Amino acid sequence: MTQGFAFELGATDGQARTGVIRTPRGDVRTPAFMPVGTAATVKAMMPESVHETGADILLGNTYHLMLRPTAERIDALGGLHRFMNWERPILTDSGGFQVMSLAGLRKLTEAGVTFKSHIDGSKHELTPERSMEIQRLLGSDIVMCFDECPALPASDDEVARAMRLSMRWAARSKDAFGDRPGHALFGIMQGGVTQELREESASALVEIGFDGYAIGGLAVGEGQAAMFGVLDYATGYLPEDKPRYLMGVGKPDDIVGAVKRGVDMMDCVLPSRSGRTGQVFTRRGVLNIKNARHQDDPRPLDAACTCPACRKYSRAYLHHVFRSQEIISSMLLTWHNLHYYQEIMAGMRAAIAAGRFDAWEAAFHAQRAEGDI
Ligand code: GUN
Ligand code: ZN
Repeated sequence: MTQGFAFELGATDGQARTGVIRTPRGDVRTPAFMPVGTAATVKAMMPESVHETGADILLGNTYHLMLRPTAERIDALGGLHRFMNWERPILTDSGGFQVMSLAGLRKLTEAGVTFKSHIDGSKHELTPERSMEIQRLLGSDIVMCFDECPALPASDDEVARAMRLSMRWAARSKDAFGDRPGHALFGIMQGGVTQELREESASALVEIGFDGYAIGGLAVGEGQAAMFGVLDYATGYLPEDKPRYLMGVGKPDDIVGAVKRGVDMMDCVLPSRSGRTGQVFTRRGVLNIKNARHQDDPRPLDAACTCPACRKYSRAYLHHVFRSQEIISSMLLTWHNLHYYQEIMAGMRAAIAAGRFDAWEAAFHAQRAEGDI
């Protein structure tokens, strides 16, 4: 048991769970949505504002920070929390996934992966040991194992090979992580959409033993039905008394479906990235502020939303600043999207605690079906 880090499971309703992750830097209420702060910032947001939306924890990225400004520099400056002025919990991804999607010229071996930086073409290496070192230098509260998520489409053999390599890397990650009171290490399940591989991966991870368990290798193009199909059995392979984290998910209805299937944590760039491209998530569905139909509209994005974008500005104004490429457009739309995501999480936590998750979910889908946004 890692000292100072604990997961307390509260109520359950069907497979859905609510609880609290306790860390020395503060509590994380679950189900939790983690905004993505890739380069030591949630783009267009002050950290205080991110907290105001209801976020208890942020996600940071080993890959980006090791390249710029480097983990050693962040360590010398007092760690990632102080560097970015976010004193609450931070979870860091381990780098392998981002290498596969962003870096140029990669070479994968049993030892790890060498790659060229997408920033300046310089050559770097990531191994389980180096990833653990970088995440320690950053001061991450929840450290992720170094894994390989195979690019799709991939054959069954390729998915099995990547999963088994990831399990060997998980054992090396655990050894290299060592004993760090107050800091947690999460394993990452792989295995694509194949049940036997998911089961094999889960038992390998449980055998090694982690403070939490992530489900990786999903939301990579398989579609929602296939993803839910995996979640239907995958959460059942994981210990009940440890947090379960679905990586890189998703749209609002993905998140609701994942929580229904027993997931406790998620992260996604979608609400923040969409805020910068004019896509707005609301209770009634998605709208694009770029659309000319908003240019004379004095109404807020969502009359029931209490975020600054909705309380103080019209759609006409938001349309205008988006079209004019004004910086406040990204600020306001990102705030609204993150606020809406956190409202979904708070709604689910309350519904699970009250034993009425099904009714909450039905209302969530009914409002979206009404449309009229
Ligand atoms: N982010 C989204 N999916 C994954 C995954 O499978 N592994 C890691 N490390 N990060 C992810
Ligand atoms: Zn709003």
